[in-house]
Amino acid sequence: ILFDILLVIGAYLIGSIPSGLIVGKVGYGIDIRQHGSGNLGGTNTFRTLGKKAGIIVTLADILKGTLAAALPLIFGSEINPLLFGVIAVIGHMYPIFAGFKGGKAVATSGGVILLYQPLLFLSVLLIFLISLKLTKYVSLSSILTGIFALIYSIIYSVFFKTDIPLVIVISLLAFFVIYRHRANIKRIRNKTEPKITWL
Ligand code: G3P
Repeated sequence: ILFDILLVIGAYLIGSIPSGLIVGKVGYGIDIRQHGSGNLGGTNTFRTLGKKAGIIVTLADILKGTLAAALPLIFGSEINPLLFGVIAVIGHMYPIFAGFKGGKAVATSGGVILLYQPLLFLSVLLIFLISLKLTKYVSLSSILTGIFALIYSIIYSVFFKTDIPLVIVISLLAFFVIYRHRANIKRIRNKTEPKITWL
């Protein structure tokens, strides 16, 4: 049990790695949290520092979720691996290495899903891109993708096998995504949320 606790702490620490802050500070001398939406995520990195930095941070944030969820596979643990993914997402949102001011749970959740449900990962990626193309809002696309993942996991558990942990975990991740986009939702309603121009 002590080892399991250490692994859970490890998952939180992996999630806490502030890729946006590291890339911004090291590569550009900029704290992206003082720019754009103030969010420590791939979208705001993209917005503030450009395409290359945005892609690196997004990939790094995805990798954090995948790696943390893989911990029990690598080290062996009785605890449901999805839990480690959830812990990493909490670390990403509230990182100990960045004053607990982190991101909005999207990319890191994606990384968790990638490991356990690659098909769901591809589907959410597609839904996200279609939504982005149609709405031009990254935030709204993130929220819609979260809702889609939830519906998918429910249908999956009903039709293919009873996979209650998956539904619980996706519900939690979808809740995190929506909760962390509160300010974006307000801006979308006020019509002040920025749209992307490159798609
Ligand atoms: O992944 C976060 C994205 O959905 C919104 O980011 O910076 O526009 O608040 P941002």
